[in-house]
Amino acid sequence: MSGSTGLFITFEGGEGAGKSTQIRRLAEVLRARGLTVLTTREPGGSPGAEAVRHVILSGAAETFGVRMEALLFAAARSDHVEQVIRPALERGAVVLCDRFMDSSRVYQGVTGNLEPDFIAALERVAINGVVPDCTVILDLPAKDGLERARRRATQAETKQDPDRFEKEELDTHEKRREAFLDIAAREPLRCRVVDAAAGEDAVAAEILAIVEPLLPIVAHGAARGRETAS
Ligand code: TYD
Repeated sequence: MSGSTGLFITFEGGEGAGKSTQIRRLAEVLRARGLTVLTTREPGGSPGAEAVRHVILSGAAETFGVRMEALLFAAARSDHVEQVIRPALERGAVVLCDRFMDSSRVYQGVTGNLEPDFIAALERVAINGVVPDCTVILDLPAKDGLERARRRATQAETKQDPDRFEKEELDTHEKRREAFLDIAAREPLRCRVVDAAAGEDAVAAEILAIVEPLLPIVAHGAARGRETAS
């Protein structure tokens, strides 16, 4: 984010693309180098936003329509940005965030059919200038991602039901994949697409290669402590 000493990296992509695994791995590598790393996620990441997360993902807000959901995502994002992300960046941390504004553009804007102006207005208010320095888009055919997500749900110790968004049809997930790739094509300086079908180690190496050139931004002044917000 311009004007602060930290580095803000967001991870985007469909269900089952491996975002959380890759965030964990990157955080470990960066911490081993002495950097302060904050890992967080959306919707959620701050107490207010976690409360809203439950309302959205349980499907409780679904009956009120996609506009209402978009407003709730924006409310959660605003709280998360002001309470957690901006202060961490100002302290010089590397912030790794699982989903951010591009998920709203894709899920609420493209597959939710909300007008681009409405989504753009919410985005402006919610992020309030905190634009990611880099967005890693983990790209995977929708079918493979859904299979991974379902396998993960059945293997979990506590059985997890698919959330409000995982339940949707395959062609909706494929549209989302295309929409993330469109964003990457339109904002090539911020966004980098990584093939999530490569093995976990290969994906981790590619992400590190993307992030490494950005580290000099935080190399001075960020070398203390550890933090986790989710
Ligand atoms: P989560 O359990 O965090 O799943 P994932 O591992 O896929 O990130 O659920 C978040 C869900 O919320 C996911 O299906 C995407 C959706 N979402 C939106 O629709 N809009 C948003 O702005 C964000 C951040 C997430």
